[in-house]
Formats: sequence, structure tokens, C-alpha cells
Amino acid sequence: MTRKISFINYKGGVGKTSLIVNTAACLAARGRRVLLCDFDTQSNASIWLMRLERWNKLNADGHGSVYSFFEPGGVRLGDLVVRDVVQDKNGKSALPGLDLIPTTFNLVDLENEFNGDPRKPAYLLFQEQLEELALDYDYVLFDCPPNLLRASQCGVFSSHEIYVPSNPDALSLIGFTLLVEKLGRFQQISSGFRTATSGQAAQVKGIIFNAIKTGVDIEVPKMRMQLRMNQFRAARRVAADAKIFNAQIRDAMVVRRAVTLGLPVTLIGQENSDPLRDNVVHDYHRLAEEIENHRS
Ligand SMILES: Nc1ncnc2c1ncn2[C@@H]1O[C@H](COP(=O)(O)OP(=O)(O)OP(=O)(O)O)[C@@H](O)[C@H]1O
Ligand SMILES: [Mg+2]
Repeated sequence: MTRKISFINYKGGVGKTSLIVNTAACLAARGRRVLLCDFDTQSNASIWLMRLERWNKLNADGHGSVYSFFEPGGVRLGDLVVRDVVQDKNGKSALPGLDLIPTTFNLVDLENEFNGDPRKPAYLLFQEQLEELALDYDYVLFDCPPNLLRASQCGVFSSHEIYVPSNPDALSLIGFTLLVEKLGRFQQISSGFRTATSGQAAQVKGIIFNAIKTGVDIEVPKMRMQLRMNQFRAARRVAADAKIFNAQIRDAMVVRRAVTLGLPVTLIGQENSDPLRDNVVHDYHRLAEEIENHRS
């Protein structure tokens, strides 16, 4: 069965996009078919994977990005998919199996201008059409902005699992806490639209620590996060098997550089690299493996 996973935290800049892009690449390298849906109007994942030139055309055109699906007479979701999105310098497919539903800046209109039928909210429209498309994939991953407005709701309503990228600091803990509160409210509001095909509402299944600096001890923030997780688990506000992932991603310059190179870290050769390149690639592979094993 296709696993559908949202990466979200109410704290911005924790590494949601870099985690999702690099993990998606590792899953594709393991032979999985992966669809990444970009639900952040900042379009960071789309710009990264399509590279600026190709994405600029899409943004200027205004069609072919995820917002087109919601427009009157909108296109079908399947027509928005950019297949084998990662290309080498010659425009040849560099990572078969990783597809993208891209976004552009017009996704912001989903929050403002969109006047949907209240009996069919945007997240229900999206989830219904995703069902069929998802059959082609092992994983559908949603990159969400740090809020639970309409765009994120589409990802969360369609998901089975939620992972929370975090930094080892107090603000990430606040972001996680706020997320669980807002999720609870959204799941309540949307429960009437759940059907046999949409299945159970997604719950938080994991915290993933990201950008850990060499030599910095993260035991205290990790323990605080674990305590909060235990409280939420006891109150059944996160999944019964929710955990802090053993795999964590170190802070490495190559992760920042990867965006400009338009490649996942795994495809960056040593010539563009930093001394931590191999270590951080190992971290992402370990994380992908742990996600594969963390199925219900
Ligand atoms: N492991 C890492 N090592 C070094 N830099 C990192 C790492 N992970 C993320 N970064 C950098 O931190 C910044 C924020 O990361 P990213 O854009 O992935 O966060 P985000 O949570 O998606 O942000 P937003 O809330 O704006 O969507 C980026 O400049 C990114 O390159
Ligand atoms: Mg992001």
C-alpha cells in the first residue's frame, strides 16, 4: 500500500524541505517510486529539484503547478506530475523514480482567492483525485509550510503519517506542541469528510532531528522532546508507535549547496563537496531506511 507522509512543523526553517528532498532521493535510489508534492508557496522544493530556469518558466506561465488543480476547470492532478524530475547538466534523467507535483508562487491564492464549495473543501477535492494517482507510487510525500492553512490541509488530510523535522532547540519543541494542537482541531473539523478510501486521520509518528552541529550535545533538548512526546502519546494525541528517530542529520555545508546545484545531496560528487559530505549522505540513507521500517 502507498505510504503517504506529511513533513510539517509549526516552526519554520527547521529543515522540512531539505529532509524531504534528500529522503525522497534516497528512497528512489532504493528502487521505490516516489511522488513529492510541494505544498509550500515558497516553492523551495520545486526550485531545488526543477532548477531555477525550468521553474521560472512554470512560475511565469502560471499553469502546470499544483494551484492549477484548484482553479475553475482545473487540470487533472496526474497532468501536473513532472516525471523523473532530477536531471543532470545535459537534461538527462539523473534519478529515475522521483516525480514531483511542483508549486509556484500562485499557490498563495489557495488561501485567499479560492472559493470552493463548502461541502467539498480543497483538501477533499485533492485527496479524492490523489487516490488513483497514488496507486503508481510506493511513497507520496508532502512538503508543507509551517502552518495548517489550506495548502497544508491538503497534504495532512491525504496522509497516513506525519513526521516532524526539528532542530534541537526550544522553538522546535514549541512548534511541535502547536502542531499537535492544531492537528487535533483540523482532524475534528475534517472528520465528517473521511470515507473508507481516505482511511484514518494521520497522526504524528516521528520527530526527526536535523542540522546537528559537530560536537554539540543534544541530549537535553532531545529529552525534553521525548517527555512531550510521552505526554502526547499517553493522551493519544500522537500515534501509539510515535518515536524520535534514531537517525539524525548532521549540519553540513553540502546541504545548503545542494539547493544551488539543483541536486539532492546524494548526487553531489566530491568535487563540489565538503568534508562532511559522505557522513551526511550516510545520515539520509539511515533515515530513509528507518522510515521504511517504521510502517504500521
Ligand atoms: N543538515 C543541514 N545542514 C546544513 N544546513 C541545513 C541542513 N538542513 C537544512 N539546512 C539549511 O537550513 C535552511 C532551512 O532549511 P529548509 O529550507 O529545509 O527548512 P524548512 O523547514 O523547509 O523551512 P520553511 O519553514 O521556510 O519551509 C536552508 O538554508 C537549508 O539549506
Ligand atoms: Mg520548506
